[in-house]
Amino acid sequence: MILQKFKSNIVSHLSYFLGSDGEAAVVDPELDCQIYLDSAEQGQMKIKYVFETHRNEDFIVGSKALSDSTGAAICHGSWPEYKYGELVNDGQEFEVGDLLVKALYTPGHTPGCISYAVTDLESGNENVLVFTGDALFVNEVGRTDFGGLEKKREWSENLYDSIFNRLLPLGDHVIICPAHGAGSICGSDIAQREFSTLGAERLMNPRLQLSREEFIEYKLKERHNYPPYFRLMEEYNIVGTTSIGPCESYESLVPQEFKNMVNEGAAVLDTRSASAFSSAHIAGSYSIPLSHLSFTGWFISHETPVLTIVEDVLHLKEVSELERIGYDDLHGYLAGGMASWYSQGYPTESSRIIDADELKSWLDSEKDFYLLDVRSKDEFQRGHIQSATNIPVTDLQDRVSEVPKDQPIAAICSSGNRSGIGAKILLRNGYKDVYNVAGGMTAWRKLGYPVLK
Ligand SMILES: [Fe+2]
Repeated sequence: MILQKFKSNIVSHLSYFLGSDGEAAVVDPELDCQIYLDSAEQGQMKIKYVFETHRNEDFIVGSKALSDSTGAAICHGSWPEYKYGELVNDGQEFEVGDLLVKALYTPGHTPGCISYAVTDLESGNENVLVFTGDALFVNEVGRTDFGGLEKKREWSENLYDSIFNRLLPLGDHVIICPAHGAGSICGSDIAQREFSTLGAERLMNPRLQLSREEFIEYKLKERHNYPPYFRLMEEYNIVGTTSIGPCESYESLVPQEFKNMVNEGAAVLDTRSASAFSSAHIAGSYSIPLSHLSFTGWFISHETPVLTIVEDVLHLKEVSELERIGYDDLHGYLAGGMASWYSQGYPTESSRIIDADELKSWLDSEKDFYLLDVRSKDEFQRGHIQSATNIPVTDLQDRVSEVPKDQPIAAICSSGNRSGIGAKILLRNGYKDVYNVAGGMTAWRKLGYPVLK
């Protein structure tokens, strides 16, 4: 038996290649399917099944593309109504070489969620691992808000029952293979550690320490962001998508061509570090460092051609992952980076940075300014600077009127990346006196400055 895990960094999505004795299955494939085809070729295996754990919301799933090139059957749940693949019944079994894969309905995150428990018949009849999709993560459970407020209680009840009555009884020794790792917005507090067992989760997952009533209450109070691009992903994943193909047209543009396209309305995605962006950037551009690339889905319309600025052309491969969240017009990148722009004498803008020490001195001297913390509500509640006001960066455009215009603004997040995005949103909205706190709360804490919980 072989098991390979693939991580797509942009939304921290985990997909799996499972193989045995000349046959294989792929669970929740990403759109660029070559990685699975390579694994199959290497192991001299035929991909027989594509197992979907649920209708994914945050990226385009590659099931149809993989099925088209391999003939593999696509298996998924009863909700929503898919336009492709085959409906799997609860308890249905599949043979993959010497493996037996059993589908278990585990509704809650969505009504159609399925987990797939795997037995390796070569070594016995016990379950060895389970693909849990978005039902159970390492240290977290799936969100239950996609059905709206009116469905949240029912979906939360279902999730608890799925975990306690269907997953945990598989056995403490069973390895869990979830669909997301840390950084995904499909769970608030997914651990960095990407390996675990049902027993470890039973003992340590904070949500699994709650009684049924406490669990449901917790889920009802939980607040999650719903990025605008999710709706588009849901549409793609109901009809089955083979390719949206942006990468072939990913051109190198000389500064004059780049400037012309900017003038014609293309959006500029600047993926350099927040500090490089602050020192000089093209007017109107979006600062979204590579580590936060999925934020593009919040701020740049899918209808607009996107031009990219990278620190190094090697980063273009990561930028091309935007295809996975539906960007089909990644039009080109600035050849030679910002240096080529400067050499033409084209105009730039800069934004201002302060460090944590300077922020402390502003607070100590009672300087009149507004401290804006753009982290998520959960992060803010876990510790913040006393005078800070929390508006998550993903809400900032909608709530920008809450930020005063007659005071300097210092924007802070955990590191300086999201606050850089936040500072840029403020500047685009006419705020003049905006500062990004470099190093953010990480630096603030390292310097031992007070944090309120
Ligand atoms: Fe999901």
